Amino acid sequence: MSKVLIAGGTGLVGTRLSEILTNSGYAVVHLSRKKNPKAKYPTFVWNTSKSFIDERAFEGVEYIINLAGAGIADSLWTKSRKKLIIDSRVETTELLTSYIQKLETKPKAYLAAAAIGIYGDRGDEELTEASTIGKDGFLVESCIAWENAIRIAGEQNGIRTAALRVGVVLSTQGGALPKMMLPMNFFTASYFGDGQQWYSWIHIDDVCRMFIQLMKDDSLEGFYNATSPNPLTNKDLTKQLVKALDKKALVIPAPSAALRLGMGEMADVVLNSNKIFPARMEMAGFEFAFPEFKAAIRDLKAKKI
Ligand SMILES: NC(=O)c1ccc[n+]([C@@H]2O[C@H](COP(=O)([O-])OP(=O)(O)OC[C@H]3O[C@@H](n4cnc5c(N)ncnc54)[C@H](OP(=O)(O)O)[C@@H]3O)[C@@H](O)[C@H]2O)c1
Repeated sequence: MSKVLIAGGTGLVGTRLSEILTNSGYAVVHLSRKKNPKAKYPTFVWNTSKSFIDERAFEGVEYIINLAGAGIADSLWTKSRKKLIIDSRVETTELLTSYIQKLETKPKAYLAAAAIGIYGDRGDEELTEASTIGKDGFLVESCIAWENAIRIAGEQNGIRTAALRVGVVLSTQGGALPKMMLPMNFFTASYFGDGQQWYSWIHIDDVCRMFIQLMKDDSLEGFYNATSPNPLTNKDLTKQLVKALDKKALVIPAPSAALRLGMGEMADVVLNSNKIFPARMEMAGFEFAFPEFKAAIRDLKAKKI
């Protein structure tokens, strides 16, 4: 049985990926900052500030997937929060690399999450992996630091390395979607600013299936956009969400000035425009289970995932 070590496996994507891998016959183990003897998957502890990983985590592991990182939109972007957002990605990557280098039997591949924030705020421009990366803003800055660390890991750990530039992951269990659904309990749904900014979304199972394709196909290396082939403007996405959930809700704007006032620089997360296409994954033959937004939402709701 092929064994997969997932760092940050307790999070939104990691939880679902662990389920899908287990159902497909893989053995899954997790790396977490916290000990948890009752965890569903064998869990080993790591600590970046002590440069420590419980080495038993690597026993018999064929693939390592690093999903660790402090939440981008969990709290306001103070100086210390920004440092944590970057450090929790760069230092975990560096720590894993230093341990992988020492392993006698190396895994087949090192895979990681990255993010579409690397492209910056790009209006209606259609973006693929061949496009230039963004110039301004903390999302760009943090994603560049993250990708540089992944690139160096690829050079130093001596194994195939690939990463997904993950878009807005749709799941009823966390991330952006439950926050978008909440106001519908009060018969409203909000788009942000003028709502013309593009959102590049993806069904959580398609992200997980992309990671599995990266595991299985040893010709895949480098960075891949993990977004559906059908990005939507924020306003359209909000309207389609109301319809897909069969809700009655007034679709109203949340003015960008109010968002900037409440969220500060972090409002970039909802106001930036990213019209992104998954060119490299499609070229690699990836077939989306959920290329269309409404069908994706109905599936997530029906399966409660
Ligand atoms: N969800 C999205 O829409 C989305 C979009 C773009 C990119 N991504 C990226 O994809 C990856 C997985 O996303 P996700 O939504 O599953 O993330 P998540 O739910 O926030 O989980 C990430 C995991 O990272 C670990 N973690 C949190 N803070 C940490 C810190 N300071 N140092 C080390 N580890 C820390 C936690 O595991 P422990 O508590 O067990 O240590 C957590 O379960 C993340 O890197 C995220 O940035 C996600």
